[in-house]
Amino acid sequence: MITKQKGTYDIYGLEAKKRMYVNDILDALCQKYNYSNIITPVFEASELFHRGVGESTDMVQKETYDFKDRGDRDITLRPEGTAGVVRWFIENKMYGNMSDPVKVYYNMKMYRYERPQSGRQREFTQWGFECFGSDDALADAEVISLAYNAYRLLGLDNITIKLNTLGDAESRENYKVALKKYLEPNIKDLCPDCQERFNKNVLRILDCKFDAENEILKNVPKINDYLNEESLNRFNKLTELLDLMDINYVVDDKLVRGLDYYTHMVFEVVLDDSYALGGGGRYNNLVETLGGPSIPAVGFAMGYDRTMQMLDEKGIEIPVNDDVDVYLLYVSEDEKETAAYLAQDLRLNGFICETDLMSKSLKAQFKSVDRYNSKYLIVLNDKDLANDEVVIKDNKTKEEEHVKLNDLVDYLDMHM
Ligand code: HAM
Repeated sequence: MITKQKGTYDIYGLEAKKRMYVNDILDALCQKYNYSNIITPVFEASELFHRGVGESTDMVQKETYDFKDRGDRDITLRPEGTAGVVRWFIENKMYGNMSDPVKVYYNMKMYRYERPQSGRQREFTQWGFECFGSDDALADAEVISLAYNAYRLLGLDNITIKLNTLGDAESRENYKVALKKYLEPNIKDLCPDCQERFNKNVLRILDCKFDAENEILKNVPKINDYLNEESLNRFNKLTELLDLMDINYVVDDKLVRGLDYYTHMVFEVVLDDSYALGGGGRYNNLVETLGGPSIPAVGFAMGYDRTMQMLDEKGIEIPVNDDVDVYLLYVSEDEKETAAYLAQDLRLNGFICETDLMSKSLKAQFKSVDRYNSKYLIVLNDKDLANDEVVIKDNKTKEEEHVKLNDLVDYLDMHM
């Protein structure tokens, strides 16, 4: 038997319906914020992610699905959405008229070669969005509020936004120097990963899960003390706006995020202090790094599967079911044609309709009515049809009514 790959899932039945319901909520919310939908290719040139996300990141070093295609090109399955969207933005010269921002959202599968565990898959979905063109704290606040409102609309109202700033290049450099100076004498006492990060990307040491309780990390210098005036002002402006918008956030000065492209504010969405349900931030240099002009941008991505899992664990009901509105049973082969056209008519009029495709006995058809949890059933037979009518039965109350064939849709419209 060929089985599915480690870290991948089949999504079927009610679970698939739940996702459609959640997608509708998220689509409608994005429209309120005037974001357009975008779908980018699953695979791109490896360079896009390697250069965009950063060669030194865990993602590029250990997690990307890289391969050569038959034309000997270096290809990578997208591990995240931002770099592909930036590639689209540059390739289509979307920066041509930047008097208004360009705002797009996506709901796409991503691929990371990770050790599968709860909330961590190799194929997973991100719902995310990116806003290009504004360097204003108002754009940061809008992105955070869109993320925040999405979780709340889904019923996860106990969420917190963890917020931090990495400052501008100057502030960040000053901070990195101070951090290295502080860590250097004690670096041997940190985990091997942190020792490696010391030279490659010292900021990542701050969010090391392994060393989180280590006294050395508890007492590190704080980024706040190294922000220049401009960086500090913009962060203060953002927190003012978040206060005004009544968004529940905490400043976490150890939050640095795992991707290299962030500048200034970064944030994550957490529930009950467990793993991040989503994350994002500002990335003012990425468009330029990938060959475009200097355009500021900010965005976010929700871990869709983790969020679905949390809805489930919190017992938040998603109002979907597999129930059928009307089941058409037939007594003999003679009524099969009627079943065919009546089913067509009911479905085109918006009802969920089933009939027997297996040529079962009438007794077995009745069993299907219950299995499908059909609200109504109609037993097609020559006597009723000779009078151009059917007997429709409410499967719960067992009440029956004679209805003319021409009036059936109206009858169901009134009763459903
Ligand atoms: P990220 O933090 O790498 O950011 O991923 C965003 C979210 O995707 C995570 O918070 C997590 O919920 C979910 N996620 C990540 N890896 C997995 C996995 N293996 N299995 C299940 N869920 C996962 C980004 O990807 C950035 N592109 C976000 C962004 C958009 N920043 C600016 N714009």
